[in-house]
Amino acid sequence: MLPGTAAPPAGTAGAAVHDSTDTTQGREQMGLLDGKVAIVTGAGRGIGREEALLLGSEGAKVLVNDVGGSVAGSGEDRTPAQEVVDTIRAAGGEAEVNSDDISSWSGAERLVNQAVETYGTLDILVNNAGILRDKMSFSMDESEWDDVIRVHLKGHFGPSHFAGIYWRNRSKSGEPTSGRIINTSSESGLFGNIGQANYAAAKAGIASLTLVLARELQRYGVTANAIAPRARTRMTENLFGEAAAKKDEGFDAWDPKNIAQLVGFLATDAAADVSGQVFVVFGGDIWLMGGFHPVGEVHRDHAWTPAELVEAKDELFKSASPGVPPFSFF
Ligand SMILES: NC(=O)c1ccc[n+]([C@@H]2O[C@H](COP(=O)([O-])OP(=O)(O)OC[C@H]3O[C@@H](n4cnc5c(N)ncnc54)[C@H](O)[C@@H]3O)[C@@H](O)[C@H]2O)c1
Repeated sequence: MLPGTAAPPAGTAGAAVHDSTDTTQGREQMGLLDGKVAIVTGAGRGIGREEALLLGSEGAKVLVNDVGGSVAGSGEDRTPAQEVVDTIRAAGGEAEVNSDDISSWSGAERLVNQAVETYGTLDILVNNAGILRDKMSFSMDESEWDDVIRVHLKGHFGPSHFAGIYWRNRSKSGEPTSGRIINTSSESGLFGNIGQANYAAAKAGIASLTLVLARELQRYGVTANAIAPRARTRMTENLFGEAAAKKDEGFDAWDPKNIAQLVGFLATDAAADVSGQVFVVFGGDIWLMGGFHPVGEVHRDHAWTPAELVEAKDELFKSASPGVPPFSFF
């Protein structure tokens, strides 16, 4: 089935296939996301796992996607995603495994179709899956570039594309429609981390993709936002090391659970007016980030010559350093 072509209306949609009143095994219906259907990609481990568990605990039915590969993206293992599904079900929630590679076009389509066919609708798409192949730009080979761009950038675009078709078709057929896309960028992409030309380019692309999705899908009641998380996972254990180690007591700022809370908020009806935004999130800190904006300018009513720009250089950089910007927003 093409997504969106045969879905029942919002609110009644889930009930038509899985009536939450008779399948929640006693779970009290008090979550912020009761009755909603969510997809989380890369949800077998790390941040995605916590996002799936949080969405499930707030009452969403969750399609837990993960290929179960290594940090570098090799291998397959369904076990981590199944464990997340088992945990959601044990708490009285509803969840299913999807093992598709979200960076393949057909995998992304199957993922969205599975959510709609299993639960009758789709409300929330959390694009999170990712891999790392860090190298300096001059040492990076073609496959290291291609694979990271494919998994992150295409892996965000594919599910968003098919979810967008579903929501657009629903809206065009006159059904009440709302949707949430929550993408995963990175400070590496916002500020350009050394050794991550592939990853940073993909993550910057995801921030830009988020803006386009927000503009294009607004008319269908769909929001698109991006988070740039900081948390202790297998992906970052070598990067942050001791600084991120779990403490015996006190607030664990590096716990990936902290990231899931913001995603839970963005998925709610209360965040229906939040779109096209990028957030950095770490522990209890959430920064709302602003996009590119002018920090210096020179003007005239005809073109500059290079020699004239040599003269105007100090004016253009009056309030900003001409050197490489710092890797930080502080
Ligand atoms: N941990 C951090 O501090 C941090 C910082 C910035 C951005 N991020 C981003 O957060 C996201 C989650 O990362 P994490 O730290 O939890 O890493 P992780 O390695 O623990 O989790 C990533 C998950 O994605 C899955 N995955 C990889 N390729 C896939 C594919 N093609 N299809 C389906 N699943 C696939 C993996 O199997 C894994 O379970 C990533 O997009 C990462 O780039 C993390």
